[in-house]
Amino acid sequence: VPKVVRAGRELGAVLDQARAGGAMVGFVPTMGALHAGHRALIARARAETDLVLVSVFVNPLQFGAGEDLDAYPRDLDADLAVCRAERVDVVFAPPGAEMWPEPPVVRLSAGAFGEVLEGAHRPGHLDGVATVVAKLLHQAGRCRAYFGRKDAQQLALVRRMVRDLAFDATIVPCDTVREPDGLALSSRNAYLDETERAAAPALHRALAAGRDAWLADPTLAPGRIEAIAGQVLAAEPAFVVDYVSLVDPDTFQPATRAAEGQVLAAAARLGPTRLIDNVVLR
Ligand code: PAF
Repeated sequence: VPKVVRAGRELGAVLDQARAGGAMVGFVPTMGALHAGHRALIARARAETDLVLVSVFVNPLQFGAGEDLDAYPRDLDADLAVCRAERVDVVFAPPGAEMWPEPPVVRLSAGAFGEVLEGAHRPGHLDGVATVVAKLLHQAGRCRAYFGRKDAQQLALVRRMVRDLAFDATIVPCDTVREPDGLALSSRNAYLDETERAAAPALHRALAAGRDAWLADPTLAPGRIEAIAGQVLAAEPAFVVDYVSLVDPDTFQPATRAAEGQVLAAAARLGPTRLIDNVVLR
């Protein structure tokens, strides 16, 4: 049964004690609503580290006005059941007032990440992610921290933040877990009604079509690859597309020439639900 910790100070004491005994901490930061994608992150942490820590905190700083902060699924008992099944040692679940008794005055900037793709479509979102991940990494201390590749821009931002600001964390990227029809697992999939759920796999199909076109002709221009993916997505009229973009995996700046390792990323909305996904050219 995982130990549930509510206060940052207590978390520090528990983890310092484990580290004093030589344990390596494996940290999986989450906003709860744990699904098989999170379980894969936790399983990897379990396999690679001695003490597995999962945080559950719906971070208000990363939601914009009119976004789904209030609707975001919250069910700590269900999350604890998943953590128990995955043999998690410690769950850090700070109440909102413990994390930020008042809104933080000093925050991090996602810099250039904040100006493209997710950053451009969700102003302030990546600043909010950087700020909460910085705080959580401070609270976790020295650790290996596990992040999913589905949120590829978040992953690139966190890796860069750790490098730029010398956090004592090793960031471990983990592959996206998908439904059999290709849909990437996301807590937001729970919002989809039956018709939307049936349309949703078109997002991954579109990205795969772009990648396959590049595999068939590696000289294709980025704009062509984006257009091919965009056409597949447009064939599913329920989707409203925010972007389909081929970018550098480290900076998320637009690719000038298609090359192996680049990320073809997309965001699109099905009714009120916004989905993101990406594939790597290879
Ligand atoms: O990916 C998420 O669930 C969140 O963005 C994270 C990393 C837990 C920060 O709130």
